[in-house]
Amino acid sequence: MKGYFITFEGPDGSGKTTVATAVCEELKKRGYEVIHTREPGGIEISEKIRNIILDPENTMMDAKTEALLYAASRRQHLVEKVFPAIRDGKIVICERFLDSSLAYQGYGRQLGFDEVLEINLFAIDRTYPDLTVYLDVDEQVGLDRLSSRNFKDRLDQESIDFHHRVAQGYQEVLRRFKDRIRIVDASRGKEEVIADSLNRILEFING
Ligand code: TMP
Repeated sequence: MKGYFITFEGPDGSGKTTVATAVCEELKKRGYEVIHTREPGGIEISEKIRNIILDPENTMMDAKTEALLYAASRRQHLVEKVFPAIRDGKIVICERFLDSSLAYQGYGRQLGFDEVLEINLFAIDRTYPDLTVYLDVDEQVGLDRLSSRNFKDRLDQESIDFHHRVAQGYQEVLRRFKDRIRIVDASRGKEEVIADSLNRILEFING
């Protein structure tokens, strides 16, 4: 069995965790070997880096430092978890990857799309996902969904302008990488979003 690297992307509150969890269960029921992971994190070293990046007390963090930490966390996660699983013929479902850095650091932090792409290409050895499911929801709807959460990490606390820029960044991602991205309307009920995402993945794997 061939391994696949599939990512879920979308703004905060787009439902990535709920949808990815359900999709993984459905794939397992169909006999696929699946690993569900996330960025930043997924393994011990990367979870530690995640805690540094998202700690609301780290108000001094420079934007380039942030971008480099995401890239460092990504590298370690790929080497320790994603590459071996793909080599073993598993399907890796990862919440967030390169496209998040392009949108959040490239546009949100205004570091530039190509600058952020360049440091990331070094980190990922040019490994792009085989397929990316983009959960498309208006950024304000996403933020409203999250507003009931008690804990807000350093990026959740950013201004609405920041999140508007992230949304523009994702539009650029969708334009540049349209061949590997499937857009799913995530403003609908969760059952529909899960079914649609699953179908896109099955079509890709069996296609
Ligand atoms: P999460 O809430 O989806 O787990 O992600 C944590 C935050 O990290 C979220 O606000 C998006 C942000 N992020 C980036 O800014 N750049 C990245 O490269 C990644 C992976 C996440």
